[in-house]
Amino acid sequence: MATTKDYRLGEFTFPRGWFMAATTAEVSRAPRALRLLGRDLVAYRGESGRAIVLNAYCPHMGAHLAAEQSSGEGARRVEGDSIRCPYHAWRFGPDGRCNHVPYFDGPIPAAAKLRAFPVEERYGCVFIWHDPEEGAPDYALPDLPEWDDPHWVQCDYDDLGTIDVHPQEVVDNIADTRHFGPIHGMKLAYFDDMFDGVVARQRSGGGHETMTSADGLLESDAVYTGPGILVARFGGETDAVQIILHTPIEDGRTHIWHGIITRGNAAPPSEVDRAMHAAYHATGLAAFSQDFAIWRTKAPAIDILRLPTDGPFHRARAWYRQFYNPRAKAADYQQRANGFYPTKGMPAHITDEAAE
Ligand code: FES
Ligand SMILES: [Fe+2]
Repeated sequence: MATTKDYRLGEFTFPRGWFMAATTAEVSRAPRALRLLGRDLVAYRGESGRAIVLNAYCPHMGAHLAAEQSSGEGARRVEGDSIRCPYHAWRFGPDGRCNHVPYFDGPIPAAAKLRAFPVEERYGCVFIWHDPEEGAPDYALPDLPEWDDPHWVQCDYDDLGTIDVHPQEVVDNIADTRHFGPIHGMKLAYFDDMFDGVVARQRSGGGHETMTSADGLLESDAVYTGPGILVARFGGETDAVQIILHTPIEDGRTHIWHGIITRGNAAPPSEVDRAMHAAYHATGLAAFSQDFAIWRTKAPAIDILRLPTDGPFHRARAWYRQFYNPRAKAADYQQRANGFYPTKGMPAHITDEAAE
């Protein structure tokens, strides 16, 4: 299992950014144990409906806040937006501070505090902001207006589980011009990449063995916003958005989710629209599984033996490094990546002249 250090990504083991923690349906009044970013966390939904994510281990004596408890005071776990520890029933607010101890009237020590993570819940996902420097979010989640558009069919996410692959190998895909033919049976008509700050964008078009009819064209505009959220808008025969979410679990292990939403003809979508969505979702998952099958079995590409006619992997890796280094250095990494990069020997979506 290759680690962040092996890839020479930077000072931090786990990157700064917004990361998928769970689906909306998974976060409820029953506290749920989460493992991600090398941490044990607890997620629960407060009585206000708010999703809250805290460090899992109680500062009193280390009980896991999602530990099962069927009786006694600890069983009444969520009160308002606070949660009680199952062991001695100390209660912690959504800011992580202990705000009640049932057997103590004195001032609660300042150390009675759990780390609380900024949380946002959008398009069926609960995201947490992770920052080794513990700063506030410095970019916003990508907008996905299609999710709430009445013409569109929402999806349940496919939880693809974890693979023993560093997320670097997944992110490399954004610059991988030459895998489309062998893996996806896709004859590319054009391909290019652009990097701009925390955003990495890939545009591609061509015939796709899995996702189009014989002479159909699949056009994709795939955008990473930060290191773990990829939103790809597909045009062509079907308007669709593919959402790929990946979160480091341990150093060198990655949890991946996949979803697709499609535009129906009716609002709200008809049965036919829903059936079409189900078929397209299955097809999109099959196409993504083609990449997944490679990742699951490959050796780590610590250094890519890059040919001049490969895609701009080196730029993509420079872009990815910004998230593994202090904010003060992020601009340096962005400068090494920012720009428009066609692939030699492959038409671009926009020409070099137009990019200038
Ligand atoms: S261990 Fe949590 S209250 Fe004692
Ligand atoms: Fe791919």
